[in-house]
Amino acid sequence: MAEEAILGYLEHHEEITDSGQFAADRALDHNEVVNVIKSLHGFRYVDAQDIKKEAWVLTDEGKTYAAAGSPEVQLFLAVPTEGSIPKEELQKKLDPSVFKIGCSQAGKNKWVEMGKQVSRKVEHVEDKIKDLLLRIQEGQAVGKDDVNTLKARKLIVLQTWKGYSVRKGPNYAPKRKKVATDLTRENLQRSDWKELEFKEYNFNAKGPPSECGCLHPLMKVKKQLKDIFLQMGFEEMPTNNYVESSFWNFDALFQPQQHPARDSHDTFFLQAPSTTQELPEDYVERVKHVHESGGYGSRGYGYDWKIEEAKKNVLRTHTTAVSSRMLFALAQQGFAPKRYFSIDRVFRNEAVDRTHLAEFHQIEGLVCDRGLTLGHLIGVLEDFFSRLGMSKLKFKPAYNPYTEPSMEIFSYHDGLGKWVEIGNSGMFRPEMLRPMGLPEDVNVIAWGLSLERPTMILYGIDNIRDLFGHKVDLSLMKRNPICRIGI
Ligand code: PHE
Repeated sequence: MAEEAILGYLEHHEEITDSGQFAADRALDHNEVVNVIKSLHGFRYVDAQDIKKEAWVLTDEGKTYAAAGSPEVQLFLAVPTEGSIPKEELQKKLDPSVFKIGCSQAGKNKWVEMGKQVSRKVEHVEDKIKDLLLRIQEGQAVGKDDVNTLKARKLIVLQTWKGYSVRKGPNYAPKRKKVATDLTRENLQRSDWKELEFKEYNFNAKGPPSECGCLHPLMKVKKQLKDIFLQMGFEEMPTNNYVESSFWNFDALFQPQQHPARDSHDTFFLQAPSTTQELPEDYVERVKHVHESGGYGSRGYGYDWKIEEAKKNVLRTHTTAVSSRMLFALAQQGFAPKRYFSIDRVFRNEAVDRTHLAEFHQIEGLVCDRGLTLGHLIGVLEDFFSRLGMSKLKFKPAYNPYTEPSMEIFSYHDGLGKWVEIGNSGMFRPEMLRPMGLPEDVNVIAWGLSLERPTMILYGIDNIRDLFGHKVDLSLMKRNPICRIGI
């Protein structure tokens, strides 16, 4: 209706100057006219300009007086032409608010004598208020003082009215073309798709808002761990390289080239590019030397160290590869005490089962400073894990090629009622640190743990494949609550 009226009118006229007037002349609902204009404007059938008008309209109270007369006149008329009426009796004849307002206004106008008895003081009154209200209701102009009086008595309010002026747009047509939005089965069967005009894609259209944004449980736990590290004054190491050379992943960490972890059963080797391009030459020489014949009080491993083996690219098997790069860089720029951490992905060529995946996340922390001892390591671990809500810790001697001493970390889990292994730690060996060029009295304490283990415990997940990988149920993300570590 409104659409035909607008498009039809513009066929023979330059402009609809006022959508409000246009709607009123045709007995159309202005809201509907406005909606049609917006839609036609969107498809550029028409150009529309906003028009704003301000107009006084009657309040509900104003409307009742426009119909029944002002309270002061209602009161005046209730007083007998001759003699007087007791105030209580007059009150009974009128609505309470009309009586109250009427008394004060009629008194002010000196229309009546107010006492115990009420009597008229004038013969005749005019209902100016009612007349003004009726004029406003009809859209007629009213003087400024009168407007102020009515406004002060809250009988009128200013209302902004919004409408449009409308002209033909670039796509104007007297009738809107029906464009198809879908190619249906019926279109194909009837072959009428050839004649159909399709709606253009709107690549700027916004998609419906998603119900909620959800973080994976691993990301929630990661964020909290990151906060803990930051609170403890640790800096995050850059871990944005999944591909690492064997050199940084193993050799720099004094892991001998025959070590079983360097076998393709345990490690993913890259086919392309299969080798690294660049290694720091002098440092490579020192690493070769320490592997072959030791130094710094060590006997070394006594084997023929091969650069070809060190150059092989692997998917990093632990984030300690990042720590070795960072410590080497620190030694080159001149030693300063540091606390570093990282939380990122690592890869191991392992059989997948309910507790193992071929890729998982490691949390790694290290402190390097002069004169650090095993006591410092235990202290830092107790501080770190207590912030995770694990305050009962036990340490068990262990072995890592790059740490001495090394300790496995156990924590008593109240829920499970037993000690669970939660990480691995140690002091980096001089065979690792000294070839890097770190001063003799500098020690590094370090530890590592998986992100999956604490996450599974926190969320009560017992199969790692339910947490990570292609079998994860996506609704897990929506359902899982915010985790609260350490409380
Ligand atoms: N890199 C070790 C692992 O993968 C963890 C570790 C880090 C151990 C630092 C000692 C020191 O298990």
